[in-house]
Amino acid sequence: MTTDLWWKHGTIYQIYPRSFHDGNGDGIGDIEGIRSKLDYLSWLGIDAIWISPIFQSPMADFGYDISDYQAVDPIFGGLDDVDRLLAEAHGRGIKVLLDLVPNHTSDRHRWFLESRSGRGSARRDWYMWRDPAPGGGPPNNWLSVFGGSAWTLDPASGQYYYHAFLPEQPDLNWRNRDVREAMHATMRFWLDRGVDGFRVDVIWHLIKDDLFRDNPVNHHYKPGQSPYARLNPEYSSDRPEVHEVIAEMRAVLDGYPDARLLIGEIYLPVERLMTYYGADLGGVHLPFNFQLLQTAWNAPAIAALIRDYEDALPQNGWPNWVLGNHDTSRIATRVGPAQARIAAMLLLTLRGTPTLYYGDEIGMADVSIPADRTQDPVGRRIPGLGLGRDPERTPMRWNDGPGAGFTTAEPWLPIGPDTAIINVAAQERDPHSMLSLHRRLLQVRREQPALRTGAWRLAHCGARSLTYERYEASQRILVALNLGAEPVDAATVPGAGGRILVSTHLDREGEVVKDTVALRADEGIVIG
Ligand code: NOJ
Ligand code: CA
Repeated sequence: MTTDLWWKHGTIYQIYPRSFHDGNGDGIGDIEGIRSKLDYLSWLGIDAIWISPIFQSPMADFGYDISDYQAVDPIFGGLDDVDRLLAEAHGRGIKVLLDLVPNHTSDRHRWFLESRSGRGSARRDWYMWRDPAPGGGPPNNWLSVFGGSAWTLDPASGQYYYHAFLPEQPDLNWRNRDVREAMHATMRFWLDRGVDGFRVDVIWHLIKDDLFRDNPVNHHYKPGQSPYARLNPEYSSDRPEVHEVIAEMRAVLDGYPDARLLIGEIYLPVERLMTYYGADLGGVHLPFNFQLLQTAWNAPAIAALIRDYEDALPQNGWPNWVLGNHDTSRIATRVGPAQARIAAMLLLTLRGTPTLYYGDEIGMADVSIPADRTQDPVGRRIPGLGLGRDPERTPMRWNDGPGAGFTTAEPWLPIGPDTAIINVAAQERDPHSMLSLHRRLLQVRREQPALRTGAWRLAHCGARSLTYERYEASQRILVALNLGAEPVDAATVPGAGGRILVSTHLDREGEVVKDTVALRADEGIVIG
């Protein structure tokens, strides 16, 4: 298996553009803001950025509802800003991935306006229109991920259209050849400009059952879960024909030089996830692996999930790991600030491409948002279950000045507390900070071939600690993690002693380790 491709040994950094840096002082992050922070990103040591959608959008779902795939939303800038960002990122050796949202458009996209104009419209079949059920009401029982029925009635034509998410996000009909061609043209538009690849939104949703059969009831549904979980989405997602659609997208990328990358957003159990590598690995290069977003935080659970994931990988399938994103409570909130350091070490020492979410490198936690400042439609449509995603989307803190150095105006979401410590400027100066830890881990990962591309092997899993090896040729690296708040002695493995390359506390570098290593509370170490 070739391991020298940039996306195999590189680290991806996800930017939520509304919240990274505001270049023009309107309270919302933009492309110029990202460009102005490229020096920071190269200092940090990441290899690629993935930017959540920047395309023209009415912002019903903050850019995941696109009304023109080939235009930049004025909130974020223009095409010239993208070109400049690409040139300057590439000049620093940083790759740029965009978010492709092919499952649905905005209801204001001209394709949908045309489709909805009447049953005879030339684009009627570009979306999913169905007659009401025989007794009236929605055509079947499919639910929207964002609450309620997935069908909305268009009174003018008397038909319903399907939307897996908001009614403002009608699903495209990917069985239609012209839809596929139009989206391929969009991919080429951005690839021609020099974009290095795409993260594809909800790729497992693209094809739905051709018979529109009802989804079965989920007998494991528990109160407190999203109402979407009441049914098993067996007929509305993860259909076998989706793989043909993905193979065609992959072929578009493969027509370009320089190893363009296709990542798929897929929330499925591991064995289903693996099918998205595709037959002969002609699917997505990286089906996003979200195991760490969902796991209980203890040594046995984490050891089991790594082993299961490694075991399930198809031959030559390259692994990847995600610790945070714009849809999930932040790691510092999920496991607490001390264990968030362990999580960072885990993310950056496992085998496979890591994806780091902006702000996690300085230990940003969820920010609680007062009801009158709620932005995310999910929080409003499904109240009371804590499903709103604003808390993990708050502005990046660059310094402890007004607006946290993010903006000179009122930020679109509150900055939140703890800005004195949780900001880039303060942590750049502090050799023991979370930011310094990330920078050091990224540096060690770059320097050590065993960490970049070596194999993974579990060494030992105790009730509170976890040790594993990364190895390549004659090089062996041992990682020992204390998953608890009590000190613990971790055994090394014969022949794997050496010197400490990095401790999560950033104060033991160079210490010689032999048979056992004493880990302090919440401490992890990398030995090489
Ligand atoms: C997944 C994206 O990550 C999420 O933010 C968005 O709301 C849905 N897809 C719909 O596009
Ligand atoms: Ca702005």
